[in-house]
Amino acid sequence: MAGSSTVCVTGAGGFIASWLVKLLLSRGYTVHGTVRDLSEKKVAHLKGLENATESLKIFKADLLDYDAMAAAIAGCQGVFHVATPVPSEELTDPELQMLAPAVTGTTNVLRAATAANVQRVVVVSSIVAVEINPKDCPEGKIRDEGCWSDEEFCRNNNIWYPVAKIISEEAALEYGRQTGLDVVSVNPGLVFGPMLQPTVNASNQFLVYLLKGGPDKVRNKLWHIVDVRDLAEALLLVFEVPQASGRHICAPHVICVRDLLDLLKRNYPDYPCITNTCDRDHPAPMTSEKLKKLGWSCRPLEETIADTIKFCQLARLLEDVVGEAPCRFPPIFNQI
Ligand SMILES: NC(=O)c1ccc[n+]([C@@H]2O[C@H](COP(=O)([O-])OP(=O)(O)OC[C@H]3O[C@@H](n4cnc5c(N)ncnc54)[C@H](OP(=O)(O)O)[C@@H]3O)[C@@H](O)[C@H]2O)c1
Repeated sequence: MAGSSTVCVTGAGGFIASWLVKLLLSRGYTVHGTVRDLSEKKVAHLKGLENATESLKIFKADLLDYDAMAAAIAGCQGVFHVATPVPSEELTDPELQMLAPAVTGTTNVLRAATAANVQRVVVVSSIVAVEINPKDCPEGKIRDEGCWSDEEFCRNNNIWYPVAKIISEEAALEYGRQTGLDVVSVNPGLVFGPMLQPTVNASNQFLVYLLKGGPDKVRNKLWHIVDVRDLAEALLLVFEVPQASGRHICAPHVICVRDLLDLLKRNYPDYPCITNTCDRDHPAPMTSEKLKKLGWSCRPLEETIADTIKFCQLARLLEDVVGEAPCRFPPIFNQI
């Protein structure tokens, strides 16, 4: 499935999808990228990628619009379903803002993939569909692809992003079993890395907040981290390797917030860094061995952090601007 194929990437302008589009174009794929907004501020970074002029076609499509999604997926041999809202602020209407695009949106993508006779669909899920109070996984057991987060627990605690990721991943894999469509999923940890898109996404805002500080407390949770460039390679790998199947955890580095802060203070003493952390139970670590056995490897965490911070410095994202509102920590990361 390499080289000369045409593939669709949903939510192509987002943080992870932009790196995936860049990688696909560099490997000779023709890419159909979907965006909700065709304005230059949303697509200029995609149009500027190497090979984009010849090999990237951008489609306007909301996940809830089946016909628009089907038009983008028609003629494709593969689909990378990356789009899901990743909120930087509190949700006011979880059903509308989160569950509908995640669940109905995924169904639309899968139905369109069937209609287009697509060979494989890669769904981007998350480790939030793996690690939150997983049922049938004894405490302390290393989390692997057999672990599913407890949807009811997440619903009862109003943490809607994991609910959306659990249901949409489950539904996608079930759709594959029922219809014979080849569906595989990837469960990334927290994703850091340099940005191609012009605005800061929620997971990089996490790192910006740790350095700049602000009024919000941050829980001292154990985080599993992956570099966006390594994640793009993982997504392409599970698309291309025939024996890939089911779920693939992509969360190779483990560090708690306090250790991450120590690393930042040591290497970047000029930034204030947050001081107000509060304790939280650490979930058990998880393994990315399944992906590594398919041939995936990743760069060290220190390199990811250094490259992300260097990018943010050059883009002047770490400077305090007079009159600007204080830096905030995306609430989602204190909930999951
Ligand atoms: N970043 C992480 O740490 C992380 C970790 C694990 C999993 N993930 C998953 O990775 C994927 C991409 O996340 P990201 O970090 O790259 O976030 P992002 O930069 O915010 O990208 C999200 C993308 O989804 C699109 N989208 C949202 N709602 C949509 C809708 N109704 N119809 C069509 N497109 C819609 C957005 O389009 P607009 O630009 O138009 O809003 C954007 O392109 C998501 O599935 C997320 O759950 C992310």
